[in-house]
Amino acid sequence: MPVISAPHAFNESRLYVDLQPILGRRLYLKCEGFNFAGSIKLKAATEMVESAEREGHLTPASILVESSSGNLGVALSVIAASKGYRFLCVTDSRCNLSTRLLMEALGSEVHIVADLDANGGFLGKRIEYVRRLCAADSRYVWLSQYTNPGNWRAHYRTTAPEIAGEFPGLDVLFIGAGTTGTLMGCARYFRQWHRPVRIVAVDVVGSVAFGGPPGRRMIPGLGMSMRPPLLDESYVDEVIRVEEADTIRTCHRLARRGFLFGGSTGTVVSGAMDWLDRHDTRGLTAVAIAPDLGERYLDTIYQANWLQDLYGDDILDSEEATVASRRRQIISRVTDRQRNS
Ligand SMILES: Cc1ncc(COP(=O)(O)O)c(C=O)c1O
Repeated sequence: MPVISAPHAFNESRLYVDLQPILGRRLYLKCEGFNFAGSIKLKAATEMVESAEREGHLTPASILVESSSGNLGVALSVIAASKGYRFLCVTDSRCNLSTRLLMEALGSEVHIVADLDANGGFLGKRIEYVRRLCAADSRYVWLSQYTNPGNWRAHYRTTAPEIAGEFPGLDVLFIGAGTTGTLMGCARYFRQWHRPVRIVAVDVVGSVAFGGPPGRRMIPGLGMSMRPPLLDESYVDEVIRVEEADTIRTCHRLARRGFLFGGSTGTVVSGAMDWLDRHDTRGLTAVAIAPDLGERYLDTIYQANWLQDLYGDDILDSEEATVASRRRQIISRVTDRQRNS
């Protein structure tokens, strides 16, 4: 029975979903959303804050500041509240409403940047904003997840050995790439392991992380509008890029079977299925990492009007489109009833 007194002391690390019955391919999905921050970012946040403490960078007057598309912001909010630090999250207009409300409920301040950078993302502008804050007030301590080695070290110390312990015959590991902390921590660990593991990075079409033209990306979590400073491509065997439409379809397919995951899980699973379709998978042990769950995406990925406005009517296949339009009809019937009453 786990009994804790600090929220970051608990993380479910042994839960996997076998996707064979749902998607027809043997792929084990490591679920990282079961902790008090609701995502894998709790690991990176804990490691970065505790190493800043060890190195003497934090005092009771310090204000933690970080640029985050959301999940790291929530994780830092949890830790800051628990340890008694102030925290300011600099995010952008793509951050889910529920994620912003969560951070505020935990006592953090949230600033939203709305200007796009030269690559069509918000990252450059968010970082400029953080730099300006730090230059103006020495109480701000920027953990800088994009460059902080604690980000990848967290996964080298936890995520990768957790997988290795459960799957001693692991052949291929699919990892979504944002800051590439998860990717680099796992890739470094498995490079030194007792058998070769194929490391497949999953990125989003429109991200420039591994090169390629910038483009519109609406789902937070994966993809970058700059080259990730932590990335060392010599550890990565393959890169797969997934269209957001495929991410959304995969999320809805999983949701129809009761597994409500976040957007980056849809991306990683979609990329992994594509890879498994193209390879001889007899006897192959494959694992993918699911960074969070789906509740934070109810007003985006799982909302019919958002999908229709951004991706058009054909985004979901017939089964899912039927469910979505059924939901739209119910909403419009409720609205009609309200109008008539
Ligand atoms: C939901 C989600 N998935 C994936 C990632 C990417 O992980 P990493 O930054 O370790 O590459 C993030 C990072 O914020 C995330 O929030």
